[in-house]
Amino acid sequence: MAGPARLRCIIRRLYHAAPWGPGGKRDPMSQTPQTTPTAPGPVDPHPLDCDEATFHLIPRLVAEHGEVVRVAAPNLDRPTWVIADPADIRRVLVSNHRNYVKGVGFERVEMLLGNGIIVSDGAFWRRQRTMIQPAFSRGNMPRFFDMVREVTLRLKEEWLAAAREGGEIDITRATSDYALEIILRLIFSDDLEFFVDQEGINPFLFLTEDPSRDLRVAMKFRQLLKQVRVLIERRRETGERPFDLLSMMMDARASRTEEAMSDKELVDEVATLIIAGHETSAGTLNWAWTLLSGDEDSARALREESRRVCPDGELTYEHLEELVFTRQVLDETLRLYPPVWLFTRRAVEADELGGHAIEAGDNVFLSPWLTQRLERLWPEPDAFRPERFAPGRDEAREDQAFFPFSAGPRRCIGEFFSYVEMRTHLALLAPVFRLRLVPGQDIALEPAINLRTKHNLRMTVEALQP
Ligand code: HEM
Repeated sequence: MAGPARLRCIIRRLYHAAPWGPGGKRDPMSQTPQTTPTAPGPVDPHPLDCDEATFHLIPRLVAEHGEVVRVAAPNLDRPTWVIADPADIRRVLVSNHRNYVKGVGFERVEMLLGNGIIVSDGAFWRRQRTMIQPAFSRGNMPRFFDMVREVTLRLKEEWLAAAREGGEIDITRATSDYALEIILRLIFSDDLEFFVDQEGINPFLFLTEDPSRDLRVAMKFRQLLKQVRVLIERRRETGERPFDLLSMMMDARASRTEEAMSDKELVDEVATLIIAGHETSAGTLNWAWTLLSGDEDSARALREESRRVCPDGELTYEHLEELVFTRQVLDETLRLYPPVWLFTRRAVEADELGGHAIEAGDNVFLSPWLTQRLERLWPEPDAFRPERFAPGRDEAREDQAFFPFSAGPRRCIGEFFSYVEMRTHLALLAPVFRLRLVPGQDIALEPAINLRTKHNLRMTVEALQP
């Protein structure tokens, strides 16, 4: 046998004999590998990661093996279960969530986010989450809405200028810059200017210019966060507490000890909120405009709703709840293109999912991308149909058939705010503009940490008569 072929054969034999391979768990008393009878899955190994190969692989695995699949991934130290059934997702995220901690991949995110609440687990996570949660209370939303409206009205002026020139916009860049400014103002309010003053421009802009989240970007980001420490120090010295997340986190106290967050903890949580709150909303709005560009009926219905709810264009916070179809458009967008398309957990102790035995230490992969396109749950799953989310329709839907924000105690902390942001965006812009994709563009997907378009998309912008 030739060298590489022989090597492949040896690797294959070793893999098949491994305790996590298709030979199943070894009985310590026996030399014969025992196949776990309840382990559906491919015989061949498949590397699994937050990447394009996995993105295309998991729907295929589920179609071939069912909604609980056991995969031996040579890049992971333990067997991995890909689960798609909402009942199992509910068990992992909600009813038995104590048995599942954050899984593979999060250690990489740690370079970027430190030990912020996306990454942390256990008592430390609980403490941090309890300290941050009140900042996202409903009571704070009207004031955050004022900021969002201001940023959106500025974008409207930019698009009006683009329309006058008969021009095009880069919608991917526009929604990314927009969501970045909003998350930065949510955290720093007008002290965003503090950073701009240091550098001459908004130094966080590289996060939209360079969508990769590799080591280089992580280092640049962490470097920039040193300025956040300077700002924290300045606020402490002056006693200034503008209305924003940073002030609220600085003043938060742990319930039993009355301790405040250390500077390092504050900086990690700031980093977490920037990254978690930016690309997710940006990606959703990018996709919403893209889907609307191909569906004139939905675009018209959206426009008419905004004009009906808010005829003079003076949008208030109270109007948002009335924007029912707008919410449906956003939910259908999140169903088709969930920004967080994959999340991972690790079983602490043995459990059972879909009648299959999971062992302590096994990896579990959950994917809104996968479940939210299952035909048995979503007929014609690839079609954009906002009416799926019409009032009353969710009663017939299984919980966790739709879970773009996760579920249970680790559910997204920014969910409510993100709807405030995204509804305001569509309510103020959809009645004024018709955006159409410039034909001939490649609308490929790039599934990395977030699911985004591989290329920036260009759109023609036309200002509509009221
Ligand atoms: C369309 C918008 C958004 C989507 C789809 C989304 C989705 C998610 C998902 C799926 C998780 C759970 C991940 C996991 O458990 O592995 C999560 C967690 C989180 N999100 Fe969001 N998110 C969005 C917007 C935001 C915004 C605007 C913020 C901040 C203002 C935010 C902050 C966070 C934080 C801090 C966590 C960690 C929560 C914890 O573990 O306790 N997200 N998000």
